[in-house]
Amino acid sequence: SPCPRRMRAVVRAMEVFVTRRIPPAGLRALSEAGGCAVRMWDSEEPVPRAELLAAVAGKQGLLCLLSDRVDRELLEAAGSSLKVISTMSVGFDHLDLHEIKKRGIRVGYTPDVLTDATAELSVALLLATCRRLPESAEEVKNGGWTTWKPLWMCGYGLSGSTVGIIGLGRIGQAVARRLKPFGVKKFLYAGSRPKPEIAAEFQAEFVPITRLAEEADFIVVTCALTPETQGMCNKDFFCRMKKNAVFINTSRGAVVNQEDLYDALVNGQIAAAGLDVTTPEPLPTDHPLLSLKNCVILPHIGSATYTTRNTMSVLAANNLLAGLKGEPMPSELLL
Ligand code: DGY
Repeated sequence: SPCPRRMRAVVRAMEVFVTRRIPPAGLRALSEAGGCAVRMWDSEEPVPRAELLAAVAGKQGLLCLLSDRVDRELLEAAGSSLKVISTMSVGFDHLDLHEIKKRGIRVGYTPDVLTDATAELSVALLLATCRRLPESAEEVKNGGWTTWKPLWMCGYGLSGSTVGIIGLGRIGQAVARRLKPFGVKKFLYAGSRPKPEIAAEFQAEFVPITRLAEEADFIVVTCALTPETQGMCNKDFFCRMKKNAVFINTSRGAVVNQEDLYDALVNGQIAAAGLDVTTPEPLPTDHPLLSLKNCVILPHIGSATYTTRNTMSVLAANNLLAGLKGEPMPSELLL
């Protein structure tokens, strides 16, 4: 009899869409993995929404950034093939977790690897704000530096101060660890629950956010954006703060009511603010906050070191690949 007909197994590659040009190490990890057909939006600029919706159709995997809104519309455009979403960020407020979970899609994210870089930037922004670095540097350029003056460009120092951390998570702890050697006298923290074991390292006291606002000389916001924290730093919060206190936010812009912050800065209710995150991002160049000397605004660069961004991209790639294979992810967000 003739040879049995051989069935040729055709293993189709998993198709993934990457929403931006990611650092080379992450791209390499994806392209070197067998069985994965990668399509990437090869640009520094975001993929237009319509093109994103078209590109995700029929894909099994999506590697996205915090600037991509992954909502019901996108999930419907992707269809039932989508199995894994991997975001190259620790924050996941841009993902509609309810809709994602409903569809049984797994999610990867990038905690830990950006903690040091983000804490470092938080400290840099705090010092730049309380010691008025951008304003002072500007005075050198514009001729405002006429002589050494006893009261010119004075700010506030950390020595002997009380620091309040809102959100004593990975990044909040790393900020406290870095600030302690500056001579901080007392740490307060606020959040969803006390963390006595962690707080012991800084002898930090868990307090209601109202008390933190009233007593801290420096406030650093490092919490996640959730329905509970949205707009949490508002008029009431700023009114409670000391007049010489400095407010720093490196979490998400929407934790702050920006109109209320503007009023507090203009009315001398608080001394200064440093923001690495705003609403919206980018902040329009004619935004009122940008007209204030006592407000230092950075373009969301908390994790922006070459090493950190490379590592984030590799972790995001490995999360995606593991998810596609049905294996445990290095960092999976459990829904
Ligand atoms: C994040 O990862 O969520 C930060 O905001 C940027 O690295």
